[in-house]
Amino acid sequence: METFADPKAIQHRAIEARAMGKRLALVPTMGSLHAGHVALIREARGRADIATVSIFVNPTQFGPNEDFASYPRTPQADQAICRSEGVDWVFLPTPEAVYGGDFGVYVEVERWSQKLCGAFRPGHFRGVATVVLKLFNLCQPHVAVFGWKDAQQFLLLRRMVKALNAPVEMIGVETVREPDGLALSSRNQRLSPQERRQAPALAEALRLAQESAAEGAAQTGPELVEIVRRHIEERTTAQIDYVEAVSMRDLEPIGPILPGETLLALAVRFGSTRLIDNVRM
Ligand code: PAJ
Repeated sequence: METFADPKAIQHRAIEARAMGKRLALVPTMGSLHAGHVALIREARGRADIATVSIFVNPTQFGPNEDFASYPRTPQADQAICRSEGVDWVFLPTPEAVYGGDFGVYVEVERWSQKLCGAFRPGHFRGVATVVLKLFNLCQPHVAVFGWKDAQQFLLLRRMVKALNAPVEMIGVETVREPDGLALSSRNQRLSPQERRQAPALAEALRLAQESAAEGAAQTGPELVEIVRRHIEERTTAQIDYVEAVSMRDLEPIGPILPGETLLALAVRFGSTRLIDNVRM
């Protein structure tokens, strides 16, 4: 395994590898790697000759009152996981190396960046889209692997790739969960023991709604939302940022459930710890 800090160095090697006919895969991450990231890495390895993992806590996707400074950083442990998973290249740059001095160029996926999480995190998806396009240009992947855990992020990036004609195949991997259903996240470690006991109610609520839809008991977006809200409000002390049932085509709220096209997504806060989860149906 090789670790790169210098953007120019990895870009040079990636262009060289492409010219030799190698197929490259990229898994963009912010580090603090867990089994969710590992599922993405395995998918990437299966699809390419050279699997790259980028580890970069991206400052432009954090708001002024968000947890950029305190976001967990575990580069040694992350690299050990990458090594044992057979990753070929790790890209671990500094913010200065990625953004330089007077950066002022951003990718905006209009409308999509304002919906769901975007309404609560102004500028977040602009930072995500910008850094991911930069990572694509630096790491030169044929294929990039993302988690459905961050469904809005995946759909928005897929739209960016299509709209800007980036020659990158976008792969989504199902959410990896704890045995009790809680979606793995580096932020889970911030939960108090009491909050951690309540947190599985999020996935439970989504599953209940999904089952109601499958049985025909729930037939519309608002009915799904009501099931999820009620379950969370009855079982947790979490503050709900949003629960929404939207179409994956445009992230607009749906009336009747659209089979194969419906995303039921939520964000809640336990104190200052923000958790998201979703299901598709
Ligand atoms: P990060 O939160 O580190 O997540 C990196 C990738 O891992 C994302 O595609 C995310 O959806 C996926 N992931 C996280 N938890 C997962 C889980 N429990 N199951 C499956 N996949 C999971 O998302 C980001 O970083 C950043 O926004 C990034 C895309 C790297 C841009 O900075």
